[in-house]
Amino acid sequence: MNSKIRKYWPQYKWSNVFSMVKNMKQHPRRYTESFEGKLVVITGATAGIGYQTARKYAAMGAHIIMINRNLEKSKKVRREIAEEFGTPIESFIADLSLLADIQRVGKYLLSLERPIDTVIHNAGVHMEFRQETPDGLETNLVLHYLCPLIITRMLMPKYQLDRAGRVIFVSSEAYRFAVWGLDLEDLEWKRRRYSGLKAYGAGKQAQILSMHILARELASHNVTIHAMHPGLVRTESGRDNGRLYQWYKRNIIDRFSDTPEVSAEALYYLGASPEVLQASGVFFHLTTEEELAPPARDLEAAEALWQRTRELLCEKGVAL
Ligand SMILES: NC(=O)c1ccc[n+]([C@@H]2O[C@H](COP(=O)([O-])OP(=O)(O)OC[C@H]3O[C@@H](n4cnc5c(N)ncnc54)[C@H](OP(=O)(O)O)[C@@H]3O)[C@@H](O)[C@H]2O)c1
Repeated sequence: MNSKIRKYWPQYKWSNVFSMVKNMKQHPRRYTESFEGKLVVITGATAGIGYQTARKYAAMGAHIIMINRNLEKSKKVRREIAEEFGTPIESFIADLSLLADIQRVGKYLLSLERPIDTVIHNAGVHMEFRQETPDGLETNLVLHYLCPLIITRMLMPKYQLDRAGRVIFVSSEAYRFAVWGLDLEDLEWKRRRYSGLKAYGAGKQAQILSMHILARELASHNVTIHAMHPGLVRTESGRDNGRLYQWYKRNIIDRFSDTPEVSAEALYYLGASPEVLQASGVFFHLTTEEELAPPARDLEAAEALWQRTRELLCEKGVAL
């Protein structure tokens, strides 16, 4: 850890934090052209940001595939959107914290005969207490990091053929909570005292680091990848946490939060506007490009994480 402090401390700048604070006051850029005839895949579209994003894309005429965990909620959203907007909408049921389900989603998307214009990896959780999935992996890490990574890697042959597409990771400014980077020897919080915020931030930081590696490979297939902070918005996030957290969320967090329509507007701009195709591997605060804090832009750390992830997944029988 000391070597990381020595490495990152001189790179930290107050201006980086001030830019983030300034960006928090910005409205997202809007894109007003339709998405008719194009396909968007959205994970976690039964609530919050994912749900509003599905509505936004539907309003713009997109063909939508939702990857949802809960069959009943998924049916309800599908029915509602199909009736209201008359756009084609399908859903695929998967628990994205399970390696087998993640791979099932990858295979399904790979089998689609048409190009996928935009994939939005949105599904996420905020958990106060450490949880392990039946695969024996920490849930945050799987949902925020391993899931988008595995699916994007599985789609490479499709991108190679289609030579088009965009990938968006719904990230969070909370990646900054991993101030001195990730602990590669304890990615799963087995040895350290678990903190909900720190584990959430670490999962998001790992996701951003993987974006740097994926951006290189995707560029050769003419596909872009970005990570974005969707704003601080009122959603169902943290609904399974304890009563104290619920009180804090209702009385403090939600009071300062925006509506998830703001995030959906930003995700439409990033997923549809031609302006975004100019670059890849960028972090956006809503739709404003933002310089990452030092540990999240450290390419050496990204490579090391990639190697460690390969080992971790190999132990679970998954090849990266
Ligand atoms: N809200 C904010 O202010 C904020 C800020 C920064 C980043 N984010 C990020 O935004 C994303 C969306 O969060 P939100 O605030 O909209 O939360 P939310 O209202 O709780 O929605 C989360 C969505 O993810 C789905 N999901 C959760 N676990 C899943 C699993 N194991 N498999 C499949 N789907 C699963 C949920 O499905 P169910 O309905 O079945 O639970 C729901 O559709 C997350 O990645 C979050 O980290 C949010």
